[in-house]
Amino acid sequence: MQDKIVDLNLNSIFVIFGGTGDLTKRKLVPAIYSLMHEHNLPGNFSLVSIGRRDLSEDVYKNELYSFIKDFSRHEVDEEAWKLLSSKIFYKKFDFVNDNDGYEDLKLFLESLDKNLGTSGNRLFYLAVAPEYFDVIVGKLKTHQMLEQNTSWQRVVIEKPFGSNLATAKILNEKIIKALPEKNIFRIDHYLGKEMVQNITALRFANSLFENMWNNKYIDNIQIVSTEKIGVENRGAYYENTGILKDMLQNHLLQLLTLIAMEPPINLNAEYIRDEKVKILKSLRPFAKEKGKTNFVIGQYGKSNSNDDKVLGYREEERVADDSNTPTFIALTAYIDNFRWGGVPFYIRAGKRLNKRTTEIIVQFKKLPGANYFKEFGDIQSNILVVKIQPEEGVFFQMNVKRPGNVFELTSAKMDYCQSCLYYNNSPEAYERLILEAMKGNNALFTRWDELESSWDYVENIERIIQEEKVTYPNYDAGTFGPDAVIDLLGQDGRIWFDL
Ligand code: BG6
Repeated sequence: MQDKIVDLNLNSIFVIFGGTGDLTKRKLVPAIYSLMHEHNLPGNFSLVSIGRRDLSEDVYKNELYSFIKDFSRHEVDEEAWKLLSSKIFYKKFDFVNDNDGYEDLKLFLESLDKNLGTSGNRLFYLAVAPEYFDVIVGKLKTHQMLEQNTSWQRVVIEKPFGSNLATAKILNEKIIKALPEKNIFRIDHYLGKEMVQNITALRFANSLFENMWNNKYIDNIQIVSTEKIGVENRGAYYENTGILKDMLQNHLLQLLTLIAMEPPINLNAEYIRDEKVKILKSLRPFAKEKGKTNFVIGQYGKSNSNDDKVLGYREEERVADDSNTPTFIALTAYIDNFRWGGVPFYIRAGKRLNKRTTEIIVQFKKLPGANYFKEFGDIQSNILVVKIQPEEGVFFQMNVKRPGNVFELTSAKMDYCQSCLYYNNSPEAYERLILEAMKGNNALFTRWDELESSWDYVENIERIIQEEKVTYPNYDAGTFGPDAVIDLLGQDGRIWFDL
């Protein structure tokens, strides 16, 4: 049975709550510009931004223009900008308290429908602090802006969705009262990344890999996402989230589900999400292991390098001087199902590290010792790397004979750089996700039961971490993280592929 996933009437108004925030300026509006530049926006379209700052429309548009210049992957084409700019409107109102503001908004959107032919369709994007998600959805409902009659109204909700399982449940209950699940788009921008999409192609379009995708052939999988940046100006937000809620509960667990899930019946949203949930439910509940360490946490201190002086986490703006918020985590996860039983999934992520990279490394088992090449000692494992960023591509390592009269093995490294080949053509995650939400396809968004299971998993980890008395800071900015991270794999006789 095929789901009906694509709504062909894309004519719509994109309404952003949080119109003056960072996400809007750096990601959403540049993404809208790129969509327009590549003729992907519907013919009848408008962007209405809502913010609490007192700005004239002209000043607001000038701000957007400079952000598009800085953050869009396209050069600004003046004609395209002029056209987009004519469709942008800025509305100032206090979206928490001002009921009249909602009434005005409703009338304004209806007038745009008449003038621009946007058919009553709305994509509401909540780029606001998480505590306002349910408030805004509730007000939209009360003011009859989510009626779903002959038109569609969808809501895109940013992360974090709740701050733990209990609050996520409460939030979800409030939201599903206002609109059906199919019109709720809980965004995880990692799902929109080109190479994250490519995981499905790599796995299910190559007989070579899918046959070996199990504990018989795979030794371990490493999921790594390291950042050079610190918390920037988001200290207050980060104090409440830390690496566990900012990266692990969402982005990293999503990568894990895609690399580990069973082949879905087809690539429609519900079937993919069904398989992802099964993986999350099969995660072995995180617990302390006797005589073994299965996680390392850390918080960055200032850098020790003279070339790149940066602050430690505790010195960042709006961060407590004695904060115990972790900015680094590495852990070993197990998926207790037939395919993956016994295979460790090593996950590592952190801020202010020595490089920015996100990749998934699949390390295959070595061939048994009793084979032709045992005199050559340590034959390297086959390794497949899905390179998500900054470079997009696929790396594969295999053993070949070194040319010459002596029979010796060497590793051949096949490195496919997709982003070199299609320079600048790979859409930004937000472009793809906005377009998919307009089409009504929520395959790239998180379903409630995925969130529920991932919170469940992460809550355990959080509890265990809190019992641990770690003295922070425990790694210098610009390094690979706490030294203990090496031993995490060392104790299993393994090494991180990239360290
Ligand atoms: C966001 C986190 O969701 O993802 C940030 O809130 C993090 O803290 C960012 O920096 C990483 O995204 P990307 O696309 O730069 O890897």
